[in-house]
Amino acid sequence: MKNRKGIILAGGTGTRLHPVTLAVSKQLLPLYNKPMIYYPLSTLMLGEMRDILVITTPLDQPMFRRLLGEGEDFGIRLTYAVQKEPRGIAQALSIAEDYLDGAPSCLILGDNLFYGQGLGPRLRQANHQSEGATIFVTHVNDPEHYGVVEVDALGAPTSLQEKPRQPQSNLAITGLYFYDAQAPKLTQKLNPSPRGELEITDLNRLYLDQNQLNIEYLGRGHCWMDIGTHDRLAEAGQFVRTIESRQGLHIGCPEEIAWSHGWLDQARMKSAIAAHGGTTYGNYLKELVTKK
Ligand code: TTP
Repeated sequence: MKNRKGIILAGGTGTRLHPVTLAVSKQLLPLYNKPMIYYPLSTLMLGEMRDILVITTPLDQPMFRRLLGEGEDFGIRLTYAVQKEPRGIAQALSIAEDYLDGAPSCLILGDNLFYGQGLGPRLRQANHQSEGATIFVTHVNDPEHYGVVEVDALGAPTSLQEKPRQPQSNLAITGLYFYDAQAPKLTQKLNPSPRGELEITDLNRLYLDQNQLNIEYLGRGHCWMDIGTHDRLAEAGQFVRTIESRQGLHIGCPEEIAWSHGWLDQARMKSAIAAHGGTTYGNYLKELVTKK
């Protein structure tokens, strides 16, 4: 199996966050002390993906490049692509087809925050699965706003619904999807939904129909948030602030993950520290190098 490549889908219109997102991409907004995209990027890196495609709107791409460059500060290789119009989450797999070049993929939505004990090993396990798709699901209060999965007594998936009026369960499908090499080809079979989008739930259903859809359940010890509204942006920022100020450990710090994987040497880390001067972030990176 080729090495799995990551995809961050960071386009969209961010309508629910207007007027904040009229001039700035949602995924560049601050989530407490970091740009939002740092969090999904860190999630992919935690899963040991080093080749990552960042999909943005055409207008926003220069800002993402300015922020993340080619990934050299994070010990990864970043490539960029554009989504001209937001025609659905599954479109990311079509846009990424040439980039993937037959490799399996992991797609994450640019406005999704994942946090919890043991997440790293679970992501790495999903990364090393050679066939089928793996989706991460979690219990939510408002399943009608999400893709929902119904499971049997053994926890195996039996059906999927997109934003159902009457959800069959409280299990929402999060914005993190692992696919084998078939995904771009399967996406070609999809037709746009009534709202004009290529639905990721329809792609997942193709895997379910082939009996190749694995479900990973994120339990009470995990936090998943998608940042669609002003309240959610504030809540997620407060969540990160609370954990970080209590523990003195950062959430979503790409340099820290790269350093822990041995992807950055001392010299690179030193230049990252220098780039952040005497800021709180820079000081945090400095501590990482000095403590063993
Ligand atoms: P959404 O929250 O569904 O859409 P949005 O971000 O455009 O916001 P709104 O609904 O308020 O207009 O998207 C979830 C994530 O997926 C978000 O990070 C944007 C991204 N996305 C795309 O990049 N392209 C798309 O076609 C879609 C549907 C989403």
